[in-house]
Amino acid sequence: MVKIDKRRLVRAAARARERAVAPYSKFKVGAALLAKNGEIISGANVESASYGLTCCAERVALFNALTGGGKKFVALAVVARAPGGPMPCGACRQLLAEYAPDARVLVADSCALTKIREFPVRELLPLAFVIP
Ligand code: THU
Repeated sequence: MVKIDKRRLVRAAARARERAVAPYSKFKVGAALLAKNGEIISGANVESASYGLTCCAERVALFNALTGGGKKFVALAVVARAPGGPMPCGACRQLLAEYAPDARVLVADSCALTKIREFPVRELLPLAFVIP
């Protein structure tokens, strides 16, 4: 089992956040996924003038990782300028429950990267929808 270097993963999410494209909300979010093989794959939120098309950082990171061939993920770090760190939205929780059910979610405020809160995906979305 790969050891989770929480601070390193959070720093990767903070770096990814710098590439957020958030001209409308100005709320920049970065995410970094740690795959079982030790690889770190990141993403940031991308907004659209048609607001509903916006994609969260967590999903950009997850889609990046999945389309890069990743399958098993042990942790996801999410960073934004939010007290206590940003909690993933419901849509992202659904995708995480499907594709990273065993992962731990680490959240941190971009102004306090060493204060990391941690939640198992299974706790963030209990009784998740799955197609049997
Ligand atoms: N956002 C994320 O990137 N992740 C979340 O879990 C919630 C919200 C983004 C979407 C949008 O670009 C901005 O934050 C404000 O909602």
